[in-house]
Amino acid sequence: MSRMNAMHSASKGFFVTGTDTGVGKTVISAVLCLALNAAYFKPVQTGAGLDDDLDSVLRLAGLSANRLFAPLVKLAAPLAPSQAAELEGASPDWPALGLPKTDRPLIVEGAGGALVPMAEGLDMAGLMARFGLPVIVVARSGLGTINHTLLTLEALRARGLNVAGVVLVGPEEPLNRRDIERLGQVRMLFSLPWMQPISAQALRDFAAGLDLSRLADEPSPAVDLAGLDRRHVWHPFTQAQTADPAIPAVRAQGARLFTADGRSYLDLISSWWVTLHGHAHPDVAQAVARQARTLEQVIFADFTHEPAVRLSESLCNLLPGDLSRVFFTDNGSTAVEVALKMAHQFWRNQGHEGRDRFAAFQGGYHGDTVGAMSVGFSSGYYQGFERLTFQVDFLPYPATWLNDHEVEAKETQALAAMAEYLERFGSSLAGVLIEPLIQGASGMRMVRPGFLKSLAELCAKAGTLLIFDEVMTGFGRTGAMFACLKAGVNPDIVCLSKGLTAGFMPMAATVATGRIYEGFLGETFDRALAHGHSFTANPLGCAAGLASLEVFARENTLAKIEALRQVHEARLTALASHPKLAKPRFMGPIGAVELAGLEPSYAAGAGKKLKRYFMDKGLYVRPMGNVFYLLPPYCLTPQELHLAYDTLEKALTDLT
Ligand SMILES: Cc1ncc(COP(=O)(O)O)c(C=O)c1O
Repeated sequence: MSRMNAMHSASKGFFVTGTDTGVGKTVISAVLCLALNAAYFKPVQTGAGLDDDLDSVLRLAGLSANRLFAPLVKLAAPLAPSQAAELEGASPDWPALGLPKTDRPLIVEGAGGALVPMAEGLDMAGLMARFGLPVIVVARSGLGTINHTLLTLEALRARGLNVAGVVLVGPEEPLNRRDIERLGQVRMLFSLPWMQPISAQALRDFAAGLDLSRLADEPSPAVDLAGLDRRHVWHPFTQAQTADPAIPAVRAQGARLFTADGRSYLDLISSWWVTLHGHAHPDVAQAVARQARTLEQVIFADFTHEPAVRLSESLCNLLPGDLSRVFFTDNGSTAVEVALKMAHQFWRNQGHEGRDRFAAFQGGYHGDTVGAMSVGFSSGYYQGFERLTFQVDFLPYPATWLNDHEVEAKETQALAAMAEYLERFGSSLAGVLIEPLIQGASGMRMVRPGFLKSLAELCAKAGTLLIFDEVMTGFGRTGAMFACLKAGVNPDIVCLSKGLTAGFMPMAATVATGRIYEGFLGETFDRALAHGHSFTANPLGCAAGLASLEVFARENTLAKIEALRQVHEARLTALASHPKLAKPRFMGPIGAVELAGLEPSYAAGAGKKLKRYFMDKGLYVRPMGNVFYLLPPYCLTPQELHLAYDTLEKALTDLT
């Protein structure tokens, strides 16, 4: 087997796949090489030595050696690559499989059809996604071709692949051609008649007569995205004058992000904590695609729809207590705004006008809209906006870590402060808001479940509403489906977003108890919750949410999370006494540790050097202040998580 190198993406070209094996992919690849003056590359050759496709292309198209790139993986058995490798006991370095560098367009020929398995978690469509080239589908004319071609198109599009067109091999069949174009919404590029035997001269004549100018209007991947971005885009939480240029991402799959410069990064922070099962998970992608073709959006006042109803039911079934009413919005901040407005108006509707204070916890972060900034003010992110925010009372938060001997004393003090506060202000309090178990944005600061239980008891005693902001902690991030389940607490309102759609669509849900919902009923509109967004309960988001919950059950996701937790535990326990680290902590799939002696504020950017170090090694992290944390998608393997810790350990020696 030839040695594999990580190589650069070609700037242009096509990936040639077939609706089946033996449909004429190699012949069509030869034709395309001739017609487009392209180079040929077959990355994976199975049945190697019997009749290599490279030799066939050479024979048919007569390309010079510098236009032919030899396979990087050669396997003897004429089987699917995963099976051929298994038989040979070979373990090809699939992650390193890349495109050769060439100035010509590249015709890349796949092995078999789109869903042919290559390795665990990688099939031919996955390789197409990685290479990022538009795909040409070769089909054989004859009975069955409509079905095979449409199935292939559907599979490719479900993976977000760009299909450049279809080529038919065999007798001209105008009806099949018409129906494939119409039903598949695809361009038929040309038909190649049967040639028996195939003569190189006839093929060359055929290629010379082809007009493939239609292929030229494919969008050029060579656009200067970074330059255009600099000119027109305003990025979040970024000082544009000093920041590194934004990196153009071209695709993502599983735990890996692929960028326009041909590099790839393991996404160790789930792209701001949203990606759950992995990027572009095919089941979620397919659900969104299907929904987009059925009902993409409908006003949610006056109308309802199946995905919203089913998702609401599923969420209520998963959440504890009487959390039984779902109000949809677009993002975590609006989920929090709605929770605040619900709590405020609930009391007002009951005639308790004076219950209008909110309490939250020191360090808590709840989003960037004005109400969310108010309740998250002590997180330190909003100094410039103080005069926009409303008054909120901040209570002590007993953050803890591995080998923290003072945790009990801190919890006792925090609960005493809480009790005293409720004694004084309980009757004027609309609600108490907390990020349960983990404060995310202030540095993955964790508390023990028992603290939340005691807090809930105090709130119940004071008769105030308890609001859990599970925007980050929901959907497995604490090791349980929700933090409230892990803590055994029934809050009155829960805010969900981020993982709600597995990271596919911007959507949020604020879930309230039946008691709160009923508090808004009445004959007049002024008792109703006067809040709504254009995209409330967008069907695409709901479809993604439902598909994600199905993946949870089917893939036994909580077990994957437990495997990641065990890696955090082993590695952070071992690092606990490292002189350059402090306060290691972990919960579920999240692990965090502080860089000792460095400035903790986010603005100071103490973790920047570490971030660059990781990115140079193909690992994407984004420390918050002096806190280094890992919050990976659940498809990350324990080995990959070990790699992240190996890299951290090495960085601590390499960086001064
Ligand atoms: C706990 C919590 N609440 C609310 C938000 C705000 O969510 P969004 O960024 O979607 O507005 C975040 C975002 O990080 C969060 O972590």
